[in-house]
Amino acid sequence: MDHLDLPPLLGACGSVRLPGSKSISNRTLLLAALASGTTEIRDLLASDDTARMLAALSALGVTWTRHGDSDDYRVEGAGGPFRVKAAELFLGNAGTAVRPLTAALAVSGGEYRIAGVARMHERPIGDLVDGLRQIGADVRYLGNEGFPPLHILPAPIRAGGVVRVRGDVSSQFLTALLMALPLAGVETTVEVVGELISKPYIAITLDLMARFGVEIQREGWQRFTVPGGCRYRSPGTVFVEGDASSASYFLAAGAIGGGPVRVEGVGRTSIQGDVRFAEALERLGARIEFGDNWIEARAPADGRLRAFDLDLNHIPDAAMTLAVAALFADGPCALRNIASWRVKETDRLAAMATELRKVGAQVEEGADHLVVVPPDRLVPAAIDTYDDHRMAMCFSLVSLGGCRVRINDPNCVNKTFPGYFDAFARVAQAVPVIAIDGPSASGKGTVAARVAEALGFAYLDSGSLYRLVALAAMRAGIALDDEPALARVAATLPAEFAGERVRLAGDDVTDAIREEACSVGASKVAVLPAVRAALLDRQHDYRRAPGLVAEGRDMGSVVFPDAEHKFFLTASAEARADRRYKQLKEKGLAANMESLLEDLRDRDARDAARPVAPLKQLPDATLLDTTEMGVGEAVSFVLEHVRRTRDDA
Ligand code: DC
Repeated sequence: MDHLDLPPLLGACGSVRLPGSKSISNRTLLLAALASGTTEIRDLLASDDTARMLAALSALGVTWTRHGDSDDYRVEGAGGPFRVKAAELFLGNAGTAVRPLTAALAVSGGEYRIAGVARMHERPIGDLVDGLRQIGADVRYLGNEGFPPLHILPAPIRAGGVVRVRGDVSSQFLTALLMALPLAGVETTVEVVGELISKPYIAITLDLMARFGVEIQREGWQRFTVPGGCRYRSPGTVFVEGDASSASYFLAAGAIGGGPVRVEGVGRTSIQGDVRFAEALERLGARIEFGDNWIEARAPADGRLRAFDLDLNHIPDAAMTLAVAALFADGPCALRNIASWRVKETDRLAAMATELRKVGAQVEEGADHLVVVPPDRLVPAAIDTYDDHRMAMCFSLVSLGGCRVRINDPNCVNKTFPGYFDAFARVAQAVPVIAIDGPSASGKGTVAARVAEALGFAYLDSGSLYRLVALAAMRAGIALDDEPALARVAATLPAEFAGERVRLAGDDVTDAIREEACSVGASKVAVLPAVRAALLDRQHDYRRAPGLVAEGRDMGSVVFPDAEHKFFLTASAEARADRRYKQLKEKGLAANMESLLEDLRDRDARDAARPVAPLKQLPDATLLDTTEMGVGEAVSFVLEHVRRTRDDA
């Protein structure tokens, strides 16, 4: 799938069971592999990053089994360094696999190569390698100095004393060193040089190491001592918490879209720093409630999020979600101390600034900060995701502004949350669409307009767009089979709808587009795929709160396949010809019953036989045959049906 179109939303509410935490999953897998004994891991995250770690462990001789197709695994620990002493590992773009495995392999006494995707080879690892060299490890760069791919060679490890590692680029270097040092067996102190960033991630590391029997003593966030003679021992069973970073999208959805939205799997007792995202949301005015194993978010009492200026160093991943939430705030918002964004899956500072601008925000991109000025009105845009799962998930929130949004390469969410868009759709309340399709003169135009009026919804007469294309083309002397030229006309159609009147380049064409020449012309241009494609976005833009009634031939099948209600309105050809005849006569226009009937049959055949978006009754559409029915009765039928299905839901 190369893109996913998300419809405009009215709001969000519901609850979501979160997938397992990426940070906890990959740390637990590695610790279980190095520990003595068997570890049962429950609720492991199923994603690209964990798949990389599992594959690496297999290559390194660690036995693990998955229980059926559940998220529960059993890992047979090696009880020390890896037993396989030569391996080549490809780890994709999984930072949580590359860093800790590099350190563990550097002290395993074998020869290993570690590589990843191109982006991984741009993500720094020099600070970790420097730290490992201080204990005697032989780690070499196969490409650029300071970056993967790496070549690790056996070397006598001289742990003990003090090792210095920089903490201001990525906290994963410290995590990796700390997790590997117990394999060396000698008391070693790690001293952090520079300000340690993303401290809560170190807290996760220390918590999990303690569960596996290794207690680290620390002085503030500057010195960490790994005791001598300690070994990892399996704690038996480990339950992986839900992913707190993944929770941020749903909590933000609740805060922006009314809510309440509840996430299950993290809560008050979570060891993940990103649960503090909920506190940040509170600073924006959102109403938050915590349970032991859940968090719930609702919009501020007055509905609007407040502007903010926050240091977000402690929640670098979830902070991205705030950058998009800023689109909904009541003033400019500043996100500070987020330089680590530059060395993640992509340069997230640059990517975020570029994509926020696409939806209409003004953005100031600093070396380590971002200021987002929300637009008065969001602009529909196609969002590039830079092979970064968080970009894709963050920008789904734009749809809560009642604005459609296209997410390019949506499958990048597989890195940490393969079912993300399904989960999002379950809490999303899309702007409802009532699609009414059917053949010419079936009365669907009148019925649709009256239904829209009764509900206070917008109304789209899609047929008039095809009629306008035909008229504009005929006026410009363009042949009705010149597909590229017609598509250009369709893409730039200077049409305006003002109440009952339709204008083309300022000229009132309300009656002109109803003439037979235009009807015939419309059915010819409607056959052309490029014309249909050029009119798609224009039709999507009619979908606005509180809802839309759209009528045509392909409203339910192509333009709004996710329409909440679909109807197929028809009548016998004779009845339809008779209606058209009366309409024309009323307008004082010439009409002939025979030729009207013949024309209708021709057009029905053309609309039904064309290969793109043919006219047909969909299996999920409700049939309404109006041959023997007045308009009022048909309108009541539709309204009653809509009301009943809503009550049932
Ligand atoms: O509904 P109408 O008679 O105004 O439609 C005019 C022509 O446009 C008709 O021949 C079919 C075509 N059309 C279409 O192909 N798809 C739509 N959604 C609406 C109309």
